[in-house]
Amino acid sequence: MLRFLTAGESHGPALTVIVEGLPAGVPVERERIDADLHRRQGGYGRGGRMKIESDSVEVLSGARHGRTLGSPVSLLVRNRDHENWKDVMSPDAQPDAARQRRRLHYPRPGHADLAGALKYGTDDLRNVVERASARETTARVAAGALARALLREAGIEVRSHVVRIGTASLPAGDVAWERLDAVEESPVRCVDARAAEAMVAEIDRARKDGDSVGGVVEVIARGVPAGLGSYGQWDRKLDGRIAQALMSIHAVKAVAVGGGFAGGETRGSAFHDEIVWDEAVGITRPTNRAGGLEGGVTNGQEVRAQAVVKPIPTLLVALRSVDLATKEARKASVERSDTCVVPAAGVVAEAMLALVLADALLEKAGGDSLDEVLAHLEATREAQRRLAGPR
Ligand SMILES: Cc1cc2nc3c(=O)[nH]c(=O)nc-3n(C[C@H](O)[C@H](O)[C@H](O)COP(=O)(O)O)c2cc1C
Repeated sequence: MLRFLTAGESHGPALTVIVEGLPAGVPVERERIDADLHRRQGGYGRGGRMKIESDSVEVLSGARHGRTLGSPVSLLVRNRDHENWKDVMSPDAQPDAARQRRRLHYPRPGHADLAGALKYGTDDLRNVVERASARETTARVAAGALARALLREAGIEVRSHVVRIGTASLPAGDVAWERLDAVEESPVRCVDARAAEAMVAEIDRARKDGDSVGGVVEVIARGVPAGLGSYGQWDRKLDGRIAQALMSIHAVKAVAVGGGFAGGETRGSAFHDEIVWDEAVGITRPTNRAGGLEGGVTNGQEVRAQAVVKPIPTLLVALRSVDLATKEARKASVERSDTCVVPAAGVVAEAMLALVLADALLEKAGGDSLDEVLAHLEATREAQRRLAGPR
């Protein structure tokens, strides 16, 4: 129902995204999109480029006077340092000197460099690096901000927080939604000040050693109606769609829904969320280890998923590599200087969850205008209240 395609290279003129399927009437507020873009650029442990780039969105189509039109929305975010890369990134044929400038031939372990060179048959890794870079997530965050605007109208909010950086982690247990306000004040987007201090220290140690450090983020959506997704077919299961969306984020290497990996070491009686009756709210659940999803369908609880972010691969203490031209042993190129991107990955994860939930919402309660969607959603909620709500 909701589709989006991004385009653009890391040092090209801009990143772009086309979002198709949004109903007419969804608020388009550039300040809100920019606020998300800035959150993606922040977080303790980022390097020099984030200071050069202060991202800001341009809305090229699909919106008028602050609302979507129902036609495709296209967004553009310029790369501010493109000025210095004009010949290197030119789409037009260039003299040899420009072709040699910024040429890369030592693939970095952990990046797409070698796999991409083998795939596309190039010995200039610049052709791979530019698109494989996580700069692409800028376009996803911009698209995600539009999805969030639709969800907000439907009473659904999406947030994230950092659970772990290296060995520094939050104390065990679910983080309540109300605690998430603290996240935007924290340098590492963590709800717990003591854990945040330990996370900052972990990043400082890694940076001092010229190394990098990974971690875990959690994304949470509140207000999600029951009945999004379907068990009817494998590719309609919403847990699978969320997992794919989160796994597609650069550096994410594992995804867990709800209790996730703990399910492998817990007995069923201690894992599943009992169903109880409460006169005030009707059918309810005292726990949420399922992360709001059973059978690939939302059950009305908060949707919760975690993503494991690997330590970023560009290291000042560069790992061993081989020069593709001479086949001699070389140290991998150092293209970027971030130490830790876990807080930023959380912001990207919010965007991806928002896009998947908005798509599933439109499947369930779609319409050509926001008013139609909200009317369909209210009818669904009313039917569910009759089935499971208080007497
Ligand atoms: C927001 C964000 C920023 C990133 N910045 C960097 C970076 O500065 N340096 C780096 O080596 N990797 C960075 N990465 C990770 C790489 O892009 C990623 O590891 C690489 O493209 C290979 O993809 P894979 O890890 O998914 O296999 C970043 C990831 C995210 C989500």
